[in-house]
Parts: sequence; structure tokens; C-alpha cells
Amino acid sequence: MKEYQVVLLKGDGIGPEIVGQAARVLEKAGERFGFCMKFEEALLGGCAIDAAGTPLPQETIDKCMRADSTLLGAVGGPKWDGLPGNQRPEKGLLGIRSALGLFANLRPAVIFPELREASPLRPEIIGEKLDIMVVRELTGGIYFGERGRRTLEDGAEAAYDTEQYSVPEIERIARVAFSMAQKRSRKLCSVDKANVLESSRLWRATVERVAQEYPEVELNHLYVDNCAMQLVRNPGQFDVILTSNMFGDILSDEASMISGSIGMLASASLGSGRAGLYEPIHGSAPDIAGTGSANPLATILSAAMMLKYSLDEPEAAAAIEGAVSEVLKQYRTPDIYTEGARRVTCEEMGGLVCEYLAK
Ligand code: NAD
Ligand code: IPM
Ligand code: MN
Repeated sequence: MKEYQVVLLKGDGIGPEIVGQAARVLEKAGERFGFCMKFEEALLGGCAIDAAGTPLPQETIDKCMRADSTLLGAVGGPKWDGLPGNQRPEKGLLGIRSALGLFANLRPAVIFPELREASPLRPEIIGEKLDIMVVRELTGGIYFGERGRRTLEDGAEAAYDTEQYSVPEIERIARVAFSMAQKRSRKLCSVDKANVLESSRLWRATVERVAQEYPEVELNHLYVDNCAMQLVRNPGQFDVILTSNMFGDILSDEASMISGSIGMLASASLGSGRAGLYEPIHGSAPDIAGTGSANPLATILSAAMMLKYSLDEPEAAAAIEGAVSEVLKQYRTPDIYTEGARRVTCEEMGGLVCEYLAK
């Protein structure tokens, strides 16, 4: 039987609860499709700070490098908010993405038909269907540029963060987005702030040049402020959105809400190898941690993305998505609850997906 070594980075807050459910679902998928999941846990974020004194122990990097793939919950929380920037849990997450060379973050904002009522947008704005793929650059830009504090001439304390992109960094993420668009509806929207930022002007010019390799893809550009507005005015105009690290972070949280809840939006962080890191786009939700009310579906759908992109088990991935669809016909965690549905806990939701998966 095929065996897959997968590292579980449960992280903080709701992380352990949601990863626990996604791991159950992966095991169930294995039973049905004839593969065996071998899980190994590793520390990342606040739990790693508490246990090992650093948000990203070397052992975690080593385990992820050896594994076939990695599933992450979320990191961070108020307990560690007072730490200096380079010792925070979030620094561990940036570190693992960088150490594994995961420069491409795919964030699919899809609306399950069952959840149309859970979306804050009116049905006529959502349109027939909603299926946007945000391709977010993940190892560059302002997240990784020079930053620091300094005292200005007038004595005022100041801080700075630098946005920098090189041509090769832009080219490789653009190629990911163009290839993605080629397989979808051949429409790509590149989002920047080229009316103000020099890094965005280089971004736009480079994307234009890469576009010549993909003549069948229709490219347009939007400024990020306009894009944020268009996403709620007419989301159906978008297919693939290509953007930088920080703009992609913000726009994908916005896009997630169209699909009903941030608890629904999965992601795949990929590099040049196959392994990848799979992570819901939301955080550790400290406000609901331990209450049993977290929605595990973003993590379960991230596990499905892992089966598709890293483990070459597309049928199992599709079966998980199908099971999620079926479950949503009746059952909801509080974040996606609408009248008439049956309210379930995080654990019950995981169990239901397993049940439907076995059918
Ligand atoms: P968050 O995404 O954790 O929470 C925002 C809101 O969405 C909260 O009200 C939360 O309860 C809700 N929410 C999030 N996920 C949910 C789910 N699965 N089910 C139901 N409701 C859900 O963002 P935040 O509050 O800004 O950040 C909290 C912590 O998480 C911070 O320390 C932040 O740095 C960290 N964070 C980590 C990641 C990550 O690990 N990838 C991502 C974002 C934020
Ligand atoms: C995300 C998160 C992270 C990011 C933080 C926690 C570093 O918001 O995965 O979307 O900004 O990339
Ligand atoms: Mn984010």
C-alpha cells in the first residue's frame, strides 16, 4: 500500500482542534482510496516558543524537508504578542515558508452552492458561481524586506519596513499564475499599486513581459484599492488574481468572506518541489479556541489540496470536496450557520465529513 509521510504542525489556538479533524479525514480518505497516512508532529509558533524557546526549531525544518508534505493549523496568540518581532510565533511561519522555498500561495475562494445564504453578498452579486484563485507571492516583498527602528534628525522615533521584489521573483510567481489561468478560464488579473510604488511598477512591467509567453491568457491590471472594491461589487469578473505577499494576504481574507466565512478558505503553499505546506488562510482564532466552535473545513479542504497537488491522489481530493458539499446541505459550525441548518461542533463536523467520505 502507498504510504505518505505527513508532518502535522498543529500550532496554537484552534490549530490543534482543526488539524485533528483534517488528519481524521485524511486517514478516512486513505481507507477508501487505498493509501496509508503516516503522521508525525512538529512544533511551530507559540507552542514551539514555550517548548523549545524558538518559534521555528531546526528539527521542524528537518522533519518537513524529509516528509512528503506538511499540514499546518495556525500560529500566534495574545500570550506571545509582547515578544520582539523576530521572536514571535508569526516569524516561525514566515521562516518555514522561506526555508522550504514556498514562494507560491494558492488561495481558492470558492462558494459552495449550499453556502450562498451564508455569504454577506446578495445572490445577484454573487452570480451563477464564484470560483476565484488568488495566487499570492509568499517569500518576498515587505514581509521579508529590510525593517527596523531609527531615530530621526528631529529626535522622533521611527520604524520602517521595505517592499522589494526582484525580476526573477516576479517572473516565477507570474508563471505560476499564468499556468493556472491557462488551465482555467484564461483570465488573469494582476494586482499592484503601480501608481505609487516603484516595486509595483517593476511588478507590472515584468508581468507584462511574462504575458508574452502566454498569448492565450487575457491579462489585465488593477490597483489594489480598486480590486478590494471590485471583489464585493462584482466578484464574478475575477478568475485568477496574481498579487504580492501583503496584498494577497489582505485580498484573500476579503475574498474568503464572500464564500461565507474565513473558516472555509484553504490554501497550498508551493515551491519548485512537490512537498508543499497546506494551511487554512485564517489564524489561530484565540477568541474561540477551546470552545469547540471552530470551523475545520478550511483545514480539511487544505488537506484535499495536499492530496491533489503533493500526493497525486486527485480522486481522494475530489471525494473530500464532495463530502464537504454533502455535509453542508444540513450541518453548520456557528460561523456559517443559517436558519434551518443543524449546528455542530468542530469535532462533529470532522466526523460528518468522514462519514460522508466513507459512503
Ligand atoms: P483570525 O483569522 O485568527 O481570526 C479572525 C476572526 O475569524 C476571529 O473572530 C475568529 O474567531 C474567526 N475565525 C478564524 N478562523 C475561524 C474558523 N476556522 N472557524 C470559525 N471562526 C474563525 O485572525 P486574527 O484574530 O487577526 O489573528 C489571531 C492570531 O492568529 C494572531 O496571532 C495572528 O498573528 C495569527 N494568524 C495566524 C495565521 C496563520 O497561522 N496562518 C493567519 C492569520 C493570523
Ligand atoms: C496568513 C497569515 C500570515 C501572513 C501571518 C500570520 C504571518 O496572516 O497566513 O495569511 O500574513 O502570511
Ligand atoms: Mn492572513
